Amino acid sequence: MLIGARITGVGAGIPKSVVTNYDLEKLVDTSDEWIRSRTGIITRHIVQENESNAKLAIESAIDAIGYADVNPCDIDLIIVATSTPDNLYPSTACLVQGAIGASNAAAFDLEAACTGIIYALTVGHQFILTGTYKKVLVIGVDVHSRFLDWEDRNTCILFGDGAGALLLEQSPGDNEILSTYLRSDGSRGHLICIPNSNSSFPREGIDQPVAVKRFLKMNGRAIYEFAINAIPDALNEACQKANISVSDIDYLIPHQANQRIIDSVANKLKIESHKLISNVAEVGNTSAASIPLAIWQALKNNQIKTNSICALVGFGGGLTWGASIIKWTATDKRLNPI
Ligand code: UT7
Repeated sequence: MLIGARITGVGAGIPKSVVTNYDLEKLVDTSDEWIRSRTGIITRHIVQENESNAKLAIESAIDAIGYADVNPCDIDLIIVATSTPDNLYPSTACLVQGAIGASNAAAFDLEAACTGIIYALTVGHQFILTGTYKKVLVIGVDVHSRFLDWEDRNTCILFGDGAGALLLEQSPGDNEILSTYLRSDGSRGHLICIPNSNSSFPREGIDQPVAVKRFLKMNGRAIYEFAINAIPDALNEACQKANISVSDIDYLIPHQANQRIIDSVANKLKIESHKLISNVAEVGNTSAASIPLAIWQALKNNQIKTNSICALVGFGGGLTWGASIIKWTATDKRLNPI
């Protein structure tokens, strides 16, 4: 019998502390009006000193496991997509594994910036399709606030912190992850990057130690142009692989970077506004977390229904981009106990 996979759980980890556009007006030469009109962002959540990448990831994992009503001991694999981990090692995935008591799980991180959750979903899906694993927890988490120059108005207004988790389970005879599609282009990697200050320099005994904190650098306009081409490419390719057309999609859930990008792509592809899922106004760009957080928010707003066909589309640093077409059938077991 065909082995398929379905998403059975979704969870969120969002810091409590809210930073408004008005708060940013006090830090850099910007205005609420500029930020709203250029990005659609109104607020973002930022970690406090006692919070971390792993803490948010753990919170989202516990939420997703509760949603699916799964015993952590039954999870086979945890994949965390992040580009802002607390440590080079241990991985965030291992910290999640230990904290939630997933005593039988393998765990690793992968890095594909804002497309990370699509990469993690694809890898997790493959492990299920081959019959290797039955339950895979995938998490997207980023704390870009720790890697931003809070004096650079080009970048500090865009990002928020957060984590979003999806639980994938084997589903005999029924594959609800209808397709996945991944791409990369390292030749344009310099357009958005965070250099690793420790490994870039100094060379021990050769260079002078330099205590420089390296921040996120971005060519915003170039990334904007990249995004409005990458989203249609990924969406069209993923639809083709799923044997559906773009008009068959009930909901487009793109990476939440900028409302203007979402609207412009929807306009180009003739996708009606009621099919667009967006929470960028409330949480900003949460990078690898943004797609699962948008799903989580949409479910709270009763936007995604059982059997909805959803297109998840990511783009970001690397450069990377990709998409997955899924059928949504999960229900929150805490609300609907069997
Ligand atoms: O996950 C992927 C992450 N990256 C992205 O999603 C970035 C994609 N790009 C964008 O979202 C947009 O390019 C931005 C929102 C970053 C910028 O919007 P834009 O319409 O492309 O503005 P721009 O970069 O062309 O800058 C226009 C002006 C410039 O001033 P001058 O040179 O015309 O005098 C900027 O210096 O706006 C200025 N500016 C700001 N003004 C007030 C840039 N940032 C700000 C700011 N407040 N925060």
